Amino acid sequence: MIHASGVTFLKETATKKTGSGREAGLPEPAEKKSCKPVRNMIILPDVTAKTFHQADIKTVFEKRETLRTYKDTRLSLPELSLLLTYTQGVRKITGKTEFRFVPSAGATHAIETYLLINRVSGLEKGIYRYLPMDHAIVLEDCTEGEPEDVARCIKKPDMILQAAVTFIWVACPERILWLFGTRGWRYLFLDAGHICQNLYLAAGAIDCGVCAIGSFFDEEAKAAIGIEEKDDFVIYMATVGKR
Ligand SMILES: Cc1cc2nc3c(=O)[nH]c(=O)nc-3n(C[C@H](O)[C@H](O)[C@H](O)COP(=O)(O)O)c2cc1C
Repeated sequence: MIHASGVTFLKETATKKTGSGREAGLPEPAEKKSCKPVRNMIILPDVTAKTFHQADIKTVFEKRETLRTYKDTRLSLPELSLLLTYTQGVRKITGKTEFRFVPSAGATHAIETYLLINRVSGLEKGIYRYLPMDHAIVLEDCTEGEPEDVARCIKKPDMILQAAVTFIWVACPERILWLFGTRGWRYLFLDAGHICQNLYLAAGAIDCGVCAIGSFFDEEAKAAIGIEEKDDFVIYMATVGKR
C-alpha cells in the first residue's frame, strides 16, 4: 500500500505549475558549485575511440546488468574520464546554457558528482569532486574522507571497499526549485536516474560493472563526503569496478 503522504506529494508535484522562485521574481540562485574556480584541478584526458573496449551499442545494452563484486584491477585515467564524460560531461554550451551527455529538466543539472576513488592509476585514494565545465576532478579536503566512512553508509560495506570507484551524486535542489517550483522535486529524481543509467552503459563499454545504490544512510553519506549545505543531499550512489 502506498503511504497517503506519498500520494499527496505525487499529486501535488504532478499538478502544481506555480510556486517557482522565478515566477515570484526572486533572484536566480548563485552559480553552481561546479562552476566556481578551484585550485589543484586534475584535468582529465578527452575521450577517444581507443578507450572503448566494447563499442557495439547492441552488446552494451544487452549485457547491462548489476554487478556487485569486482576484480582488483585498476581503472585507467582515460576510463575514469569516459565514465565522467557520459554521466555528467558537458556536450555543448549555447549562450548561458550547458548541455550535457544526459538530459536534465530545464538543463539545470542540479546534481554534483563526488567520487570515492580506490583504484585508478595515477590517482591517490580519496574523495574527489567532478568539475564538468573543466572536465577535471579535484581532491576534496574532507576530514572524514576515508573509504571506510563512505563504505559504512551502506549495509554491506565490502562492495564499496572492493570497487575501483564509487560515484556519489549530490542533489542541490535550490536551482531546480527556483525554476520549476515544487515540481522540481520530481525532476531531480528523474535526472539522477538518467545519470546512473548512462553510468551502467558507459561502464559496459569498458568492461566494467556497476551497482546502483539507493539504500544508504543519508546523514552519514552526507557527512562522509563533507557536504555542509543544509538543503543538499546524497540522492544516489553507484559502485564501479572491472568485471
Ligand atoms: C533506484 C535503484 C536503487 C538500487 N539500490 C540498490 C542498493 O541499494 N543495493 C544494491 O545492491 N542494489 C541496488 N540496486 C540494483 C537493483 O537491485 C538491480 O538493478 C535489480 O536487482 C535488477 O538487476 P539488474 O540491474 O541486473 O537488471 C538499485 C537499483 C535501482 C534502479
